[in-house]
Formats: sequence, structure tokens, C-alpha cells
Amino acid sequence: MENQPVPFRKTLFVCTNSREGGERPSCAGGGRGGLELLESLKALVKARGLKGKVRVARSGCLDLCEKGPNAFLYPGGEWLCGLKASDAEAIVERLAKDL
Ligand code: FES
Repeated sequence: MENQPVPFRKTLFVCTNSREGGERPSCAGGGRGGLELLESLKALVKARGLKGKVRVARSGCLDLCEKGPNAFLYPGGEWLCGLKASDAEAIVERLAKDL
């Protein structure tokens, strides 16, 4: 095992888990928009020249499915829930601060 410095200033993990027909909802299933949110965030990070500083990463289930779509920010431990693709602009604005 080898340790190395974290390569990004901020990483946003966006749940894109999709489970259809289960007992619980999922962030990217049933039209809830988790995947569209991820794609919007990635496009905005690229458009603003934040690649290499901000990483938007796909995540599996974060286990707060009922509150989703969910995202988790590292470092900082901020949890964002009830997200929509239309929130992407405001989220990237926040990520761009204090880099
Ligand atoms: S499916 Fe996203 S938190 Fe469970």
C-alpha cells in the first residue's frame, strides 16, 4: 500500500445508483435525475476550467436514498440532498470558491 497526496482540492461524490422496482427510491432511478445532475456538474466544471482542482465523481448508494439525489463533498463533509440538475450551476459556484 502506498499513500499519496489527494490529487484534487475538492471532490464531490454524486450518487448515480439506479434501482428500479425496489422498496427504496434511488438517486438515478425513477426519473429522480441523479445521472443528469452528474453530467451537468461535470460539464460545468470543465467549462469553468476547474478540472484538476475539482473532481465530480460518480458514487454508488450513499444510503440516504429517500432524501436523494444526494452528493457528498470532500473535504468538508458537506452533504447535499434533494438535488436537481438545475442546482448544478449553484453547486459549481460554491465549489469554485476558496480553491
Ligand atoms: S440511491 Fe442514492 S443514496 Fe441510495
